[in-house]
Amino acid sequence: MDSTDVPFYVELARQATGPIVELAVGSGRVAIPVAEAIRPNVLVGIDTSRSMLDLAGEKAEAHGVQLDLRLGDMRDFRIDSPAALIYCPRAMMLLHTWHDRRQAFERVTAALKPGGRFVWNAFVFDHRTATEQDGRHMDNPVPHIVRYAKADNRIDIVLDDGGETASIWWATKNEWLGLIEVAGLRLETLYGGYCG
Ligand SMILES: C[S@@+](CC[C@H](N)C(=O)[O-])C[C@H]1O[C@@H](n2cnc3c(N)ncnc32)[C@H](O)[C@@H]1O
Repeated sequence: MDSTDVPFYVELARQATGPIVELAVGSGRVAIPVAEAIRPNVLVGIDTSRSMLDLAGEKAEAHGVQLDLRLGDMRDFRIDSPAALIYCPRAMMLLHTWHDRRQAFERVTAALKPGGRFVWNAFVFDHRTATEQDGRHMDNPVPHIVRYAKADNRIDIVLDDGGETASIWWATKNEWLGLIEVAGLRLETLYGGYCG
């Protein structure tokens, strides 16, 4: 999988002067390189999954870095001091509805210090690709079927073994811009890719 987002977020973290938070920190894929870059400051990582936080903690320890890992939901998080940078790689599209995203954006606004930045990434959704993939069976990385729920803006990854279905709810560029506006944020830069 393309990991060029890691140097992109590391560079933003280097520019931040103050606390840094990763929303939906997962296994620490981005958080660990960021934490290495901002030492001795400590990155706060928030996630709803205890098992992912445990994994991130183990990986951080193996890399000799410290993470401040907290169980929490990005729609309802609070931090102790205002953040200079809040970022969210690969996870905003896991929120189901515009309302969920709006809650997350509003919490971000409340948690940022003046001049602080919120940075996230989302892909541009291609209906043609989604339609081609709809119902297709794939063997990698594990056997699954992709389903496209058009009316719900949703793609489901349905595992053959009956395991938990993973879904993403895509949004348009204008929806993201609307969220910035309603949350009281100001657009600084809109990139078409990680190289800027
Ligand atoms: C695809 S992983 C991304 C992890 C990491 N940001 C990265 O880029 O490698 C998605 C993570 O989002 C977490 N997550 C999903 N919904 C969340 C929510 N509402 N608040 C916080 N974390 C959430 C999941 O538990 C999972 O660990």
